[in-house]
Amino acid sequence: MGMSQLRADYKTVWTSLSTTKEDAYMVVSGYTDEEKFHADAEDTLDILRATTGINSDDVFLEIGCGVGRVGRVLAPLVREWIGCDVSPNMITLAGRRLIGLPNARLQEISGYDLQPIPDASVDVVYTTVVFMHLEEWDRYTYVLEAMRVLKPGGRFYCDNADIASDAGWAMFEASRKIAPGSRPSHISKCSSVPEIDAFLRRAGFKDVKVATRPMWVYGCGVKP
Ligand SMILES: C[S@@+](CC[C@H](N)C(=O)[O-])C[C@H]1O[C@@H](n2cnc3c(N)ncnc32)[C@H](O)[C@@H]1O
Repeated sequence: MGMSQLRADYKTVWTSLSTTKEDAYMVVSGYTDEEKFHADAEDTLDILRATTGINSDDVFLEIGCGVGRVGRVLAPLVREWIGCDVSPNMITLAGRRLIGLPNARLQEISGYDLQPIPDASVDVVYTTVVFMHLEEWDRYTYVLEAMRVLKPGGRFYCDNADIASDAGWAMFEASRKIAPGSRPSHISKCSSVPEIDAFLRRAGFKDVKVATRPMWVYGCGVKP
């Protein structure tokens, strides 16, 4: 897929990237091995524990949940887990992976907002490995939407590849070498510490913390 599909037409781009289970798993993680999938999700849980915290009475919402990699391990730990994704194919695949988890709920969204989710109804909103595929404006719109759907005191987490890291820079250079007309619509674009910090502060989050780990920049904040 090249520039024939506009990057910001997320529904068209991501629906066509997830027409088969194998394609969907590869675009979500780069592999199809369910064991590795599970181990990776445990790492994501550790990061959430260290940033937003995970409490048994929390309602969690994931923006861009894919096939429910994280939801599968997170739902049993919380009151409710709501997985939102722009791709109806991802939602269908996630539904199959989450069978037997009665408190996991899936919601197809437009790709630009959390319109089906009521104001002040969620304890934690997080998004992981998604901002790299969005335009900066659409990243920030989701930060604002997180602010809207969170209860006062609710927590937010987001991450992206960090252009200041060696791995982020390598990804940048690899993409730079692709001819401009041939870059895929979903190609990854990095963020930086100042970008994530600006988004969280401009949206009005308090207790904003932005940090890095190899390849990644991540931020968290609390709704006043
Ligand atoms: C690389 S996958 C990551 C999935 C999941 N967060 C995980 O960590 O396993 C990116 C996901 O974001 C979804 N996505 C892409 N653009 C989106 C948008 N504008 N709004 C909501 N979801 C989007 C894709 O359909 C895909 O499921």
